[in-house]
Amino acid sequence: MPAQTWNPAEYERNARFVSTLGRGVLELLSPQRGERILDLGCGDGALSAEIAAVGAVVVGIDSSEPMVDAARSRDLDARIGDAQALAFESEFDAVFSNAALHWMPNPDAVLAGVYRALKPGGRFVAEFGGHGNIAAIRVAQFAICQKHGGDPQTIAGKYYPTTEDYESRLRAHGFTVDSLQLIPRPTPLPTCMDGWLDTFGRAFLESIPEDSRTPAKQEIIDLLRPALCDSNGMWTADYLRLRVAAHRPAR
Ligand code: BEZ
Repeated sequence: MPAQTWNPAEYERNARFVSTLGRGVLELLSPQRGERILDLGCGDGALSAEIAAVGAVVVGIDSSEPMVDAARSRDLDARIGDAQALAFESEFDAVFSNAALHWMPNPDAVLAGVYRALKPGGRFVAEFGGHGNIAAIRVAQFAICQKHGGDPQTIAGKYYPTTEDYESRLRAHGFTVDSLQLIPRPTPLPTCMDGWLDTFGRAFLESIPEDSRTPAKQEIIDLLRPALCDSNGMWTADYLRLRVAAHRPAR
């Protein structure tokens, strides 16, 4: 299966809304001066930089080398790493994550590593795709994937849990759950569905034989237009976010 890859310049053009819309979960984190905070899936570091701006000490982890380079260019401590294999031991006051955890198919490995990384009493505050996230987009992708011989795992291999699923995993890993909500987040797309597919559907498009890619992309756009494009030509993605605040008990 082709791996999802990221290009910081393209991300800036097609996907800056991801960090802009992450400001709500950042408020929930409420970082404090002097705290040590781990940002999982920090991407180009836009939100890590906001955490650092209050005087917290941030470590960002991301699996994409170009995105980590972009984060380092903001003068951040960003490291290439897999949030499903964290090796930190009781060293963070908080673990934060925005729009990253749905890319990780092993939530139990993530939660075990987050719990270990937190100091007793430390908090875990995150937002990511919840059950029903981008349902219309996924249906269109599955249909076109089947028609053109793409790899369905590039669509199916994401993790969009219900609140019940995530709450029971959090508790099983020892967390105390403070809040858990599924939030509809219709998201205007600055560069339409075309730009969204280029940035977020890259692995999916690359799984389709090369000579079918351009028509396949156009067919997805045509399928989705009645559902996601308004009469002014404005596209809105059907995002649904799971927002979580939990903590490792003090002892
Ligand atoms: C998201 O919900 O942020 C998302 C999900 C799948 C692909 C791209 C983005």
